[in-house]
Amino acid sequence: MGAPGWPVRLEDGRVGLRPFRVRDAGAWSEARIRNEQWLAPWEGRAESQSPATWAERHSGAVFAAMLRSHRKEARAGRSLPLVVTYEGRLVGQVTAAGIVRGAFDSASVGYWVDGAHAGRGILPTALAMLVDHCFGPVGLHRLEANIRPENAPSRRVVEKLGFRDEGLHARYLYIDGAWRDHLSFAITREDVSGGMLRRWHEVRPGPP
Ligand SMILES: CC(C)(COP(=O)(O)OP(=O)(O)OC[C@H]1O[C@@H](n2cnc3c(N)ncnc32)[C@H](O)[C@@H]1OP(=O)(O)O)[C@@H](O)C(=O)NCCC(=O)NCCS
Repeated sequence: MGAPGWPVRLEDGRVGLRPFRVRDAGAWSEARIRNEQWLAPWEGRAESQSPATWAERHSGAVFAAMLRSHRKEARAGRSLPLVVTYEGRLVGQVTAAGIVRGAFDSASVGYWVDGAHAGRGILPTALAMLVDHCFGPVGLHRLEANIRPENAPSRRVVEKLGFRDEGLHARYLYIDGAWRDHLSFAITREDVSGGMLRRWHEVRPGPP
């Protein structure tokens, strides 16, 4: 038996979510390498990992290994790694990772969008779809997003979607050569009983 809610394809207007596939390699490498300055200040990486360059960390071989890991984790029900598409093209990613079941039924979300597509509400739309999917077919109860205090665009995303500020985690993730503080934002199923996407459309009429 597969994991609940996996695999999945979701759509809202021009924004879509779907699993990664082999032929995403070129578009993923191109977008990630072009967006180094945009993404590097916000993405964690193990302190012990070898000091490979950004380009080396976004090669076709790295994509192939990432794809294998995404598929394994998703089938095991530990993660939901999804491509964000805009008009059918890869423009980013949302992931519900670290899924823990039992009395917790919780996961943490991560996301990025190509800087060339920022500011159009693509990511909040994608995240709203992921939240509804997680609280629906996947059967989770709580989702959290951990964000560096200086990441104003990301804080706006969770603020617009109604996540609660649950405080500061000191030295939470190793990013860009140091342990960085993060603010923790969370939402539970009870907060969005009518659906997050529906509520998002009430704030922002029509999909991007
Ligand atoms: C955070 C992020 C995913 C937001 O995605 P998005 O689709 O642009 O989201 P929105 O369109 O709702 O914009 C969010 C805020 O970004 C700001 N913004 C808008 N256009 C922008 C641009 N071109 N450049 C930078 N910030 C911009 C605005 O403050 C906006 O809030 P507003 O709607 O109140 O004006 C995106 O900025 C990103 O990928 N950043 C780099 C990676 C990252 O930070 N990931 C999250 C780690 S916790």
